Amino acid sequence: MTGSKSQTPWRVGVLFSSTGVTAAVERTQQAATLLAIEEVNASGGVLGRPIEPVVLDPASRPPRYRELAKQLCDQAGVAVIFGCYMSSTRKAVLPVVEAHRALLFYPTLYEGFEYSPNCVYTGAAPNQNSVQLVRYLTSHFGKRLFLIGSDYVYPYESNRIIADLFRQAGGEVLDEMYVPLRVADIDMPKVIRRIEAAQPDVVYSTVVGDGIARFYEAYGEAGFDQQTHPIASQSTQEAEIAQMSARAAAGSITAAPYFSTLQTPANLRFVAAWRKRFGTGLPITACAESAYFQVMLYAQTLERAGSDRLEAMLPHLHEHEFDAPQGRVRIDQENHHTYLWPRVARVDAQGVFQVVDDPGLRVKPDPYMYENRFDPLAGRPA
Ligand code: ACM
Repeated sequence: MTGSKSQTPWRVGVLFSSTGVTAAVERTQQAATLLAIEEVNASGGVLGRPIEPVVLDPASRPPRYRELAKQLCDQAGVAVIFGCYMSSTRKAVLPVVEAHRALLFYPTLYEGFEYSPNCVYTGAAPNQNSVQLVRYLTSHFGKRLFLIGSDYVYPYESNRIIADLFRQAGGEVLDEMYVPLRVADIDMPKVIRRIEAAQPDVVYSTVVGDGIARFYEAYGEAGFDQQTHPIASQSTQEAEIAQMSARAAAGSITAAPYFSTLQTPANLRFVAAWRKRFGTGLPITACAESAYFQVMLYAQTLERAGSDRLEAMLPHLHEHEFDAPQGRVRIDQENHHTYLWPRVARVDAQGVFQVVDDPGLRVKPDPYMYENRFDPLAGRPA
C-alpha cells in the first residue's frame, strides 16, 4: 500500500453476477454499489480514507459465490461484502462470512424467516411487499390463484407465504408448479397448459432471471390478457421488463419499496446521477436502490465505528438513518432487516412501472411474519 496510513483504503468485496441467468438485475446492483462508493469517495471517503471495491463475477452460480466470498475474506482481506441476488447465493455466502466474522450487506427482496448477525438485509421482507401485494390483488382481480416459480428456495418459500395470505383473504390456490432456472430447460407449453386448465384470476410468479421474459411472452401469446388476468411478481423488475416486449409486460403487477418514477428530491438526485454515470441503457431497479443506499448505511456505520471489523460495526448499525431515494431508511437493531416504504405498481403500455398504491408509510421489518397476518385494512391511514 502506498501513501500515508490515513489514505489506506477501506477494502470491500462486491459480489454480483455480470454473467449467467440473473445477470440482468445483478448488473444494476453492481452499478448502484459502485455509484455509491464513487459518491462517498468523491466527498472525502470515510474518516478521510477511500472505499476500494474488489469486484468479482460469480456467474449466477451458488458454489462460485461461496468460493469467491472465501477468496475475498482470505486473500483480499475484506471484512465487508456487498452482494447476492438469489437466496441460494446468499445461503452459499453466509457460512463463509460467519466463519470469517465478516459482514454481508444483501440488497434483494427475499422470503424472510432468516437472521444472521453477519448479514444486513436491505431488500423487502414479506411483510413489506407480499402483504401489500395480496391486498391489492384480492381487492382488484379476484381470489383464484395460480403459483409458478423457479426451482430453488426463494420461489418455494415466497409462494408458500403468498398462498397463506391469499387463503387468509378467502382466496384459493388452484395449482402450483416449478420450472428449471436454465431457460432452455423450461417446458413452456406445459406451463401454459396448466394455467389454461386452472383458469386463475391471477398468476403469482416467482420465476427468476432470464426465464421471466419467456414466460410473460408465452402467457400473452396464449391469449391471456393481463388487463384482466395479470401476472404478479416481485422478482420481475425493470431489468427483466427490459428483456421483453412492452406488449408482454403491460398490465403486470409488482410490490416493492422503490420505483424510479418516485418524485422525492432524493430520488430525482439519484436518477440524475445514475443517468449521468450509466446513460439510459441500464434500468434502475428496486434492488439497485437497495444496493445504493446500503453502501451509504455502511459508510455512516463505519464513520461511527472507526473500524470495519464486525465487533466494531455491529453496535452502530442501527443508530442512524439515510435519506434514500425511496424515503428515510434504517436498520432494525433486533433483526438486521431494514425499515422500508412498501408500494404496489403496474406496468403501463410503454413498459414503465406506475405506482398504483402508495400508503406513504414506512414499515418495520418483520421477517418472521410474527405480527403480520392478512388484514385488509392494515397499513391504511386512519
Ligand atoms: C431471491 O432469490 N431472493 C430473489
